[in-house]
Amino acid sequence: MSEKSKISMAVIRRLPKYHRYLKELLDRDINRISSKELSDIIGFTASQIRQDLNNFGGFGQQGYGYNVEELFYEIGKILGLHKTYKTIIVGAGNLGQALANYTNFDKVGFQVKALFDINPKLFGIKIRDIEIKDMDYVEEFIKTNNIDIAILCTNKESAQEVANKLIAGGIKAIWNFAPTDLKVSNDVTVENVHLVESLLTLTYLYKSRDE
Ligand code: NAI
Repeated sequence: MSEKSKISMAVIRRLPKYHRYLKELLDRDINRISSKELSDIIGFTASQIRQDLNNFGGFGQQGYGYNVEELFYEIGKILGLHKTYKTIIVGAGNLGQALANYTNFDKVGFQVKALFDINPKLFGIKIRDIEIKDMDYVEEFIKTNNIDIAILCTNKESAQEVANKLIAGGIKAIWNFAPTDLKVSNDVTVENVHLVESLLTLTYLYKSRDE
């Protein structure tokens, strides 16, 4: 069975958290950890952790626990972090520029190669060393630079049209910040970051505390 068909999305959604905590352990030179200790710092139960990691062949040894470096590496590999990804940001407004300014993407292997916009006033401006380019050239840029991922930061109204253009250029993965559900074919992966939805979850939980 392929990894994709047997691992549930719930497990996949927990993996970045494992990855982040394991990195923190490595930074503190901690090389070995039990599922109980991991449970104490991550907040998932020890049994949940064992079950999650068993999906990928375990990694742990009875009486020894987990080798932090190996686990970090293996989870990174499962998440696709064994290679670097070339990305572009489309829509170079407040959010697009803020994301281009975020240097941590580089550290996890995401290289932002360019920003694109339709506003001529922005063309040629650099955010760090990343240039804002004319949207007319986006398809050509994707093809010649083998761009893997597009980060979509335009307004809601133009998001679908922009996505179609990116896909025509060869993009197969879109990180979508526009508050709309994009319609794409099955071979294109979209991950939505709808911040307001997250905020509404917070307000629900906040409100429910007093009820
Ligand atoms: P903004 O208005 O500052 O930037 C949008 C940019 O997209 C503009 O520079 C505009 O020229 C460009 N654009 C419009 N049509 C385009 C097209 N067809 N091709 C290429 N570029 C095009 O907006 P902001 O604040 O950066 O937000 C961007 C998106 O992210 C919006 O959909 C917004 O709802 C969403 N968002 C914004 C957040 C924020 O904190 N600013 C938070 C969460 C989501």
